[in-house]
Amino acid sequence: MILFDYSNLLEENVKEHGLPKNFIERHQGLIKEAHHILSKGLPFIDILYKNDYLSSIKKFSRENRGRWENLVVFGIGGSCLGPLALHLALNHPFHNIISKEKRDGLPRAFFLDNIDPELIFGLLESIEIKNTLFLVISKSGKTSETLAQFLIALERLKDLDLKRQVVIITDPERGPLRRICNEEGYTSFPIPPALGGRYSVLSPVGLVSSALLGIDIDALILGARDMAERCKDIKDNPAYVFALSHYLLYKEGKNIHILMPYINALGGIADWFCQLWAESLGKRYNINKEEVFCGPTPIKAIGVKDQHSQLQLYMEGPYDKVITFLTAKDYRSCVNIPTFYPDITDISFLGNHTLNELIKAEQIATEAALTSERRPNAKFVLDRVDPFNLGGLFVLFEIATATFGTLCKINPFDQPGVELGKLYTHALMGKPNLDKEKEEIEKFLKRPIYQV
Ligand code: PA5
Repeated sequence: MILFDYSNLLEENVKEHGLPKNFIERHQGLIKEAHHILSKGLPFIDILYKNDYLSSIKKFSRENRGRWENLVVFGIGGSCLGPLALHLALNHPFHNIISKEKRDGLPRAFFLDNIDPELIFGLLESIEIKNTLFLVISKSGKTSETLAQFLIALERLKDLDLKRQVVIITDPERGPLRRICNEEGYTSFPIPPALGGRYSVLSPVGLVSSALLGIDIDALILGARDMAERCKDIKDNPAYVFALSHYLLYKEGKNIHILMPYINALGGIADWFCQLWAESLGKRYNINKEEVFCGPTPIKAIGVKDQHSQLQLYMEGPYDKVITFLTAKDYRSCVNIPTFYPDITDISFLGNHTLNELIKAEQIATEAALTSERRPNAKFVLDRVDPFNLGGLFVLFEIATATFGTLCKINPFDQPGVELGKLYTHALMGKPNLDKEKEEIEKFLKRPIYQV
């Protein structure tokens, strides 16, 4: 079960920075309009029901159980943040350090969503290639970063059992990676064509690594479906209430949206959310091709550590933010704080409590402090962090993003703004047929430089 508590977004708690208590009824028209558009079908919901790849993923993970020391995932953006978020949320916080027995025979996991040579060199130095399974994830099959990683692995693997050690997740029909799969017979899983990268976590993109890392993918899908059913209704729909409240506050200038888990393991969910919110909602043009320069800025914060880095700004900086906490009813471990130094009250008051009580107290205190400063804040409460609820949370945020985009009348499913940088990179790297981009980037490199 996931609840969205929006009490502290209301005027009665944060005064002129909040929304009227009846904001949902007052804006029923907007929600009905968005609901009408979204009910026509959403690819990230459709895949929850049309997923015939599920049994082959489970079979593949069963066959590979205990076989590998390491799982290396190559992918970037939507092809990495979801699978990584799942691993961080549901596996041991020190998964790669604990013994293989304690890991239940599961491989260590490395998600490589960067091409910094120091990172790749460091990884290759640290793992035994022959004991490693490589998962290459790219919807387009054309992403330079992922392809470069793939080529580097291929070279290291060439004298080994390449076909057994590389698995490719890509479009079922198109793109260079699919061509390689067809021609060379790698194990592969399809990414449904209609699905955009950042909405693909509950497809093979997120499910294959999750299954290989021991996560119950059936429960993930069940939780996702449960949320999809819940969100079919206009009434009591947490995705719509999250989207509508954030949209109305955004229109009032609150254009910085912070997601702040108070569960360390959910840090990856905040990274995933930031990509979803930024890439989906940051748009120059609306659907009528008018210039709108739309888009709230998402920020990740982690409780409690960012109380000691970002909170000062949220308490006393400009009134341009909405903070959403991500919490659970309880933690999956309990740690007692022992009693020492009975004469030093600054220390002794902590004794006879648990870390669970301390972190809860800090979360409530932060909520109360922000509210007393009239800073709008809300909270998601999961009854527990498990695959079922995470499946639900992904779908909730995906529907909320599509809803926010629809309310803004922009297309939340494309990302035209990232193309130019890609073309310039390709031109710099000598890809043919990019004369115009080559000329432009060379002009850029020749501009006057001012340095101190
Ligand atoms: O959300 C998106 O569409 C992007 O972040 C992509 O996932 C990212 O660019 C990687 O693309 P691909 O999976 O085609 O390699």
